[in-house]
Amino acid sequence: MTALRQQEAGQIALVPTMGALHEGHLTLVRRARAEADHVIASIFVNPKQFGPNEDLDAYPRQLAADAAMLEAEGVALLWAPTVEEMYPAGFVTNISVAGVSEGLCGAARPGHFDGVATVVCKLFNQVQPDMAFFGEKDFQQLAVIRAMARDLDLSLPHVSNIIGVPTVREADGLAMSSRNRYLSPEQREQAAALPRAMRAAIAAIEGDAKVAGALAELEAAIIAAGFSSVDYAVLADSTSLAPLAVLGDAPARLLVAARIGGTRLIDNMAVNRTDENR
Ligand code: PAF
Repeated sequence: MTALRQQEAGQIALVPTMGALHEGHLTLVRRARAEADHVIASIFVNPKQFGPNEDLDAYPRQLAADAAMLEAEGVALLWAPTVEEMYPAGFVTNISVAGVSEGLCGAARPGHFDGVATVVCKLFNQVQPDMAFFGEKDFQQLAVIRAMARDLDLSLPHVSNIIGVPTVREADGLAMSSRNRYLSPEQREQAAALPRAMRAAIAAIEGDAKVAGALAELEAAIIAAGFSSVDYAVLADSTSLAPLAVLGDAPARLLVAARIGGTRLIDNMAVNRTDENR
C-alpha cells in the first residue's frame, strides 16, 4: 500500500468488505473506480463485530473467487489481513460511538458497531485512503463510521469523503445481501414483500399519513407476507438516527429489520418531505 501511494500519483479509494462478494459490492468498486485513480479493496471477516450467538465460523468465505472478481473489476490491490495481523496478542483498544450505535441494529447486536468502528478505523489507518465507499444498505453502519471519522478528526479519509452508495436491488426490489443465500426459494419470494411494504409506508408518510399508523401497517404487511417477526420499523433522522414521530424538514430514513425463518433481513429507504405535505 505504501508502495502504491509512493509510486503512483493520484487518489486512492478503499472499499472495505468481509468478502462473499455480490453485485452490491461490485457496484461499490465500480463507483470507487469512477471517482479515484486506484482502488484498494479489503476482505476481512471481523470477529469483533460478531456476537456470541452469531456464527462467525459459518460466515461464507471464498477468498480466491472474491479476488478474481475484484481483479476483473480493475482493483489495484486486495488487502486481506489475517485475524492475527489485525488483532495481534495484546490488542486492547475498542472504539465505541455512542448514540448512533445504540438503537436499531445496535439494540439487537450489542458490541457489533464497536467492532465495526474499531476495524474500520484500523483499515483507514492501514490503507490511508483519500476516500472510502460503503453501501447505504447498512445505513446505521455508515452513520456510525461517519460519526467516528468526524469525532476522531480522521483526515484520510476525511468524513466528507466517506461515500454512501445507494442499495443495489434484485428485480423484485429485495436489497442484495450475503444473507439472501440463506433463504429457501419460498422465503426468497416472500422476502420481496419487505421493500414493497416499505414503499407503501413511505408513500403514506409522504402523503401526510400519521407516522405511527403507517409503521403499524408496514409491520402488519410484513408479518402477513410470512416474516416471523419485525425487530424494528422506524422513521429516523438520517444523520443522528433519532426516531421521528412526524416527518420534518431534515432528511429522514425509514429503517426496518425483520426475520424470515432463521434469517434477519434489514433494509432502509429515504423519505422526502414533498411540496404536498409541507
Ligand atoms: O459492511 C461490512 O462488510 C463490514 O461491516 C465492514 C464495513 C467491512 C467492517 O468489517
